Amino acid sequence: MILSTPRLALRELTADDLPALRAILQDAETMHAYEGAFDEPMVQAWLARMHDRYREDGFGLWAVELRETEEMIGQCGLTMQHILDQDVIEVGYLFQRAFWHRGYAVEAAAACRDHAFDMLGAERVYAQIRDTNIASMNVAIRLGMTVRGRFIKHYRGVEMPHLAFAVDRDERTLTARTDRRR
Ligand SMILES: CC(C)(COP(=O)(O)OP(=O)(O)OC[C@H]1O[C@@H](n2cnc3c(N)ncnc32)[C@H](O)[C@@H]1OP(=O)(O)O)[C@@H](O)C(=O)NCCC(=O)NCCS
Repeated sequence: MILSTPRLALRELTADDLPALRAILQDAETMHAYEGAFDEPMVQAWLARMHDRYREDGFGLWAVELRETEEMIGQCGLTMQHILDQDVIEVGYLFQRAFWHRGYAVEAAAACRDHAFDMLGAERVYAQIRDTNIASMNVAIRLGMTVRGRFIKHYRGVEMPHLAFAVDRDERTLTARTDRRR
């Protein structure tokens, strides 16, 4: 296990998570900000990319499980990204629609933010968010983030205006209690 919070456990994704990953990545509403549902090769490529990230960086998006049932309900974690001309650490979060609005995204993402500051020595943690993705912006705000800039991302043949949210180490607010384990 990488991290645990009162309700959640975060661990590396495996091939056993493919059905739960499909429930996230192949749902058109969940993937609205990514220009729609992924097909099967894109799901496989997503999982392979996460394994590359674990190997190369030591972190990536992790599986989020409910501690009570061990059900995999989402993904949350840290990835290296190029934002506003810098290589930075980003916190990312994607949850199955059935588990939205219960505070799980904020709880998992706050633990990842703290992991970046306390275990990886980051001075600043970013979230790059498409300008239409209000749910994601609300999570970023609850993490203590503010808008640092705007930029265009080119993804799936579309020009997507994005906002760069970030929180600095000395600014973080304690939005969720985190109980870290390695
Ligand atoms: C972005 C995303 C993860 C946010 O998920 P979420 O479920 O809204 O996030 P949370 O529940 O943690 O937090 C916010 C909501 O939970 C509510 N909440 C917080 N704690 C709660 C609790 N213990 N019980 C019930 N509700 C709670 C908050 O009031 C808020 O509600 P609101 O959104 O209705 O105002 C989700 O919309 C998603 O997976 N989107 C698709 C993928 C995506 O776009 N990811 C981001 C890419 S940048």
